[in-house]
Amino acid sequence: MTERLDKFLSTQTMLSRSEIKKHLAHGKGTVNGKVVWGGNRKIDPEKDEITIFGKKIEYRNDIYIILNKPEGIVCATKDARDKTVTDLLPQELQRKDIFPAGRLDKDSLGMVFITNDGALSHKILSPKKHIPKYYLVKLAKPFINEYINIFNKGMEIDGGEKCLPAHVRQADTLENTAFVELFEGKFHQVKRMFSAVENHVEKLVRIQMGSLAMPAELGIGEHMELLHKDVENLVKITPFDEVFEERRPFFPSYLINNSL
Ligand code: URA
Repeated sequence: MTERLDKFLSTQTMLSRSEIKKHLAHGKGTVNGKVVWGGNRKIDPEKDEITIFGKKIEYRNDIYIILNKPEGIVCATKDARDKTVTDLLPQELQRKDIFPAGRLDKDSLGMVFITNDGALSHKILSPKKHIPKYYLVKLAKPFINEYINIFNKGMEIDGGEKCLPAHVRQADTLENTAFVELFEGKFHQVKRMFSAVENHVEKLVRIQMGSLAMPAELGIGEHMELLHKDVENLVKITPFDEVFEERRPFFPSYLINNSL
């Protein structure tokens, strides 16, 4: 399928429409080795070789990335003050149409899924689709078994906001740690749930979405591109106890890598 050169450059790079127009008018772009002087030329992204400022643009249609978010980084594409999750990606993956699917707080760590696929993002985030997200949490006070029932019944937070039933277990590899499964993403939800049971979240690391776990060896601040079969796992559901047993051997690595 062909498309206009300026449109192609606007999805595949961070350049604005006006910057693209200006650079092309100054002969800064080439198609198959020949300088072009405007953006209206039709190109075939699969076949033509496009450069801007001498740099080849690698065509990618779908982008699926996992990033292990460090503390202090904002889960957004742009922020006036702070670095964002997309700022941490290498230049060749920076483009205007990518965004993090769902949020982690600035002080939370771990798995962020970054994509340009709006339909997939909706599927992952909509509570109606029931796609679980999993968190390892360090608590200020010891875990108590009553939490299991309270979370499971669907608790109220902040005087009335009702949560969907959630799963929680003591993550027995370190003291005062819990493993939580949620099917929704209310503002500061995990923190507010533990406040409601008079505990306090000191650190939070997201380690899995759907049936796709963040590899324990993915270093903090590092990213990986996903294969199609991994992407499918994002929308698959595995029972909580199975996920707990599967991830349990890796809890210490997640905690140490992310210095919980
Ligand atoms: N719940 C929280 O409280 N914070 C997060 O970052 C994610 C879930």
